[in-house]
Amino acid sequence: MCGIVGYVGDKGTVDVLISGLKRQEYRGYDSAGIAVITHDGHISSAKKAGKLQALVDELAVRPVAAGATGIGHTRWATHGAPIDANAHPHLADGGKLALIHNGIIENYAEIRDEMLAAGHEFVSETDTEVAAVLVGHLVNSTGDLRTAFAQAVNRLQGAFTLLALHVDEPGLIVAARHNSPLIVGFGDGENFLGSDVAAFVAHTHRAAAVGQDQIVALTADSVTVTDFAGNPASLEEFEVAWDASASDKGGWPSFMAKEISENPDAVANTTRGRVVDGSVTIPELTELGDDYLRGVSRIIVVACGTASYAGLVGAYAIEQWARIPVDVQLSHEFRYREPVISADTLVVSISQSGETMDTLMAVKYASEHGAKTLSICNTQGATIPRESDAVIYTHAGPEVAVASTKAFVAQITALYLLGLHAARVRGTLDATELARNAAELEAIPAKLEQVLLTGSTVAQLAKWMSDTPAVLFLGRHVGFPIALEGALKLKELAYIHAEGFAAGELKHGPIALIDHGQPVFVIVPSPRKSEVIHAKVISNIQEIRARGARIIAIAEQGDAAVLPYADEVIQIPLADPLFEPFLAVLPLQMFAMELAHAKGLDVDQPRNLAKSVTVE
Ligand code: F6R
Repeated sequence: MCGIVGYVGDKGTVDVLISGLKRQEYRGYDSAGIAVITHDGHISSAKKAGKLQALVDELAVRPVAAGATGIGHTRWATHGAPIDANAHPHLADGGKLALIHNGIIENYAEIRDEMLAAGHEFVSETDTEVAAVLVGHLVNSTGDLRTAFAQAVNRLQGAFTLLALHVDEPGLIVAARHNSPLIVGFGDGENFLGSDVAAFVAHTHRAAAVGQDQIVALTADSVTVTDFAGNPASLEEFEVAWDASASDKGGWPSFMAKEISENPDAVANTTRGRVVDGSVTIPELTELGDDYLRGVSRIIVVACGTASYAGLVGAYAIEQWARIPVDVQLSHEFRYREPVISADTLVVSISQSGETMDTLMAVKYASEHGAKTLSICNTQGATIPRESDAVIYTHAGPEVAVASTKAFVAQITALYLLGLHAARVRGTLDATELARNAAELEAIPAKLEQVLLTGSTVAQLAKWMSDTPAVLFLGRHVGFPIALEGALKLKELAYIHAEGFAAGELKHGPIALIDHGQPVFVIVPSPRKSEVIHAKVISNIQEIRARGARIIAIAEQGDAAVLPYADEVIQIPLADPLFEPFLAVLPLQMFAMELAHAKGLDVDQPRNLAKSVTVE
């Protein structure tokens, strides 16, 4: 939820920290702060409520002094309101120690009482300050930051990544990771820490994910890792596959606009190398083995939000192609229902960030109960793939805008590839059908390019509708999850009440919402392969139009049947019906973004949200 950055080196610590925070602001943006050990050996720090720009403005007036060791934080509030006092870093030990934190410390109240009894005072309402005071207290009894920090993290419960520095050891940052991400970046005479590689990718592509319950001691030329008991541990280095420029706006007005335009690449890059001569092979699935895939009796997809809707789309394709029953469950509901799982249950998690705590906990639960786990993830080195038996990385590139767009289509791509791979291994599709579907998938990027051309029509529509208080979305079959996703995008970007429904469900209740002028987006399936479903959706449109609804249809080019009943039609290229979600979601993403623009809202950082939800 929060973004953290740490740096030891001589590059200009404040600049490195601020640029690292800028690239991680999507993780939280209600306050930010930095602390530096200055060249003359004291801590200089600044923190400010509001977006990172507020801190940057503050630094322009009251600069933080130069130094070679620093930490920075961008916050998504959990304990305590987003005010200056609650922003990180928190100082302790008479201002000689600074500490930042991502996560939630569950036993903070007990430690706070203990520290109060020992005569310490608190200036914030946060759980983080409790950790800072505890480390400071232990520095005084042990005389050494590393020992004090190790003792402190062994006392803490909950989820935390902590970074601390102390003026008595000016070239050192200590950091720990428990149920929250921490990545090291290796430089030349400098080293970095971040919540993700975005924190330092402008400086180095050499990275390693710190393991669960590990402590890192970082200096300019050494990175030492131990477990919480002090035993030496090692890191596995990887090469960051994208450039800093990939996480810049690159001339677009917003990250969201840029990322929507990257939908075609997200599909193409996720497919690349996995379709060879008309046959899908995902090398990463060899970790599971063909025999295992042949024997899988059930797939359970666990995910949250948009990723769960990708799972709902993928379920249709996997069931149809590989003949494996697929359930899609929200990660936070999964483990509390005591799910029936066994060794032949494959639990597939979907997560753009790879850090969503609810999904991580679902994966751990599945493993502990004997299932195999497969992660579909967009972030190298993230926790969920590390905790899984196998991983299919989506190659959507960094997604910075808080609301997910290109990662969604990349997730569907990965699920379709999984379906085709499993169908080949299980022999449920013949070579012709495998090749036909693989070709359909490979044709999607070019079709998405065509859908992007409808952008100005969609923008015009959004402008006309900027005063609308509520919008409904209807779909059937694979169009249903797209209706859910269209509604979610509109809620989170434009703060408009929106609901997605299965079109068949309408007359079981939701049709009561239809009144004169009520806008309803309808995702119309192709009539070519599924005449029955198409006819049913047309009759749903007639039912709501008769009650005054204003229909905006998303229909394939040449679908004349929809024209008499629709107020607006957004045309998408022809595709096999199973592949329509790729094309139908794009106008809905653009619509939500444009409507938010029309209302003057920040589309990259909607209120109350954070991109990476690392608390339960
Ligand atoms: C909506 C959105 C969220 C995420 C959800 C899961 O636009 O982005 O609903 O899809 O929080 O996040 P990840 O995929 O990182 O696990």
